[in-house]
Amino acid sequence: MRRATPEDRDLLVAWDADPDVRAAGGDDDWWDWDRALAEDVDHEEFWLAVEDDGPSGIIILLDAAREPTHYWGDVEPGTWALDIWIGRPDRRGRGLGTAMLRWAIDRCFTVHDAHRILIDPLETNVRAIELYRRVGFVDVGPRTFGDDRCLVLELSRPDPPRCAPSG
Ligand SMILES: CC(C)(COP(=O)(O)OP(=O)(O)OC[C@H]1O[C@@H](n2cnc3c(N)ncnc32)[C@H](O)[C@@H]1OP(=O)(O)O)[C@@H](O)C(=O)NCCC(=O)NCCS
Repeated sequence: MRRATPEDRDLLVAWDADPDVRAAGGDDDWWDWDRALAEDVDHEEFWLAVEDDGPSGIIILLDAAREPTHYWGDVEPGTWALDIWIGRPDRRGRGLGTAMLRWAIDRCFTVHDAHRILIDPLETNVRAIELYRRVGFVDVGPRTFGDDRCLVLELSRPDPPRCAPSG
């Protein structure tokens, strides 16, 4: 995993044109890559999954309580959100998305001290929803963002293991 930089802009624009990425993105606003990659802010992170021949996918970590568009509304501090896509169709279905999700979940909980992670696939993106459930997300419920009908799922930070009383 490495951070996306302004040099990755053309690649990300090209990925945005992929039919499956477009279908999964819905009608809501798309990322303005010039802005997103130029800014150095601590409420959003753009990470690329890089394989031997270059980047294959992106995962975005967003501090939902602090990011300025308030896309997620009023959420408690410590609430983060994820957005993910594999830009290269030939790289899907090989376990990469699962690995990226697990990596990002760990980063949210351990580096950012998040207590809750949200994700909002389109209701029609049944395969992505199944994947999120498989890595531990649970359904919160339907929600409309702009013109998009989404299913919100959440993952709460597991409680630390309890020590058995000694003696
Ligand atoms: C969804 C996505 C990130 C999953 O990453 P991945 O590397 O393909 O997933 P993995 O190989 O780790 O796991 C496979 C599972 O992912 C899910 N999946 C969703 N879309 C998929 C696709 N186009 N191809 C393969 N698997 C997909 C399925 O649940 C699949 O399991 P299945 O084969 O039993 O149906 C990726 O397929 C993708 O970018 N799809 C297009 C854009 C998209 O839907 N993004 C999610 C927006 S919420």
